[in-house]
Amino acid sequence: MEYLKLVVHESTRLRHVAAINILESSKATNIKGFHVPAKTVVIINHWSIQRNSKSWERPNEFLPERFVNNPVDSGGQNFNFTPFGSGRRVCPGKSFALIIVESTIANLPYWFDWKTVGGEKFDMSETFTSSVRLKTLLHLVVVPHFS
Ligand code: HEM
Repeated sequence: MEYLKLVVHESTRLRHVAAINILESSKATNIKGFHVPAKTVVIINHWSIQRNSKSWERPNEFLPERFVNNPVDSGGQNFNFTPFGSGRRVCPGKSFALIIVESTIANLPYWFDWKTVGGEKFDMSETFTSSVRLKTLLHLVVVPHFS
């Protein structure tokens, strides 16, 4: 279960549910010398932030171990890892979501054996709209372990 938590962390880094987030500034501000007037539409590219090689080693690789003894978490205070957003609009469902995701993913291989149709290889290439998802639909055959 400890390793599963690392896998979930790494999945939310590489496969951001909301790859792009669109917000509006409530008041005028200054960010690193750039004047941002009130009511400016701000587009936050989480996909790019979470794959930035300045923050992440081998950013495009799926490496759950990167989160071992790593103080970076998804609470919204680390601006290089924001799967649930940050600030006043941070996702209020974060704790609930993580419990559901962890228990679902733990149960799926516990109760079932998973195979691709005809032993096909996984196509992990991705496509994205506002969210990142698999380019090719995954067709799986499910066999219960205990019947
Ligand atoms: C893995 C699952 C989830 C992910 C990755 C996720 C991610 C996000 C993100 C990125 C935002 C935008 C935050 C921002 O604007 O900075 C958001 C907002 C929000 N999420 Fe989630 N979320 C998840 C599950 C949930 C669940 C289970 C609930 C409710 C039970 C929920 C309720 C909300 C609500 C109400 C907002 C809008 C907050 C606001 O604008 O004030 N989310 N979520």
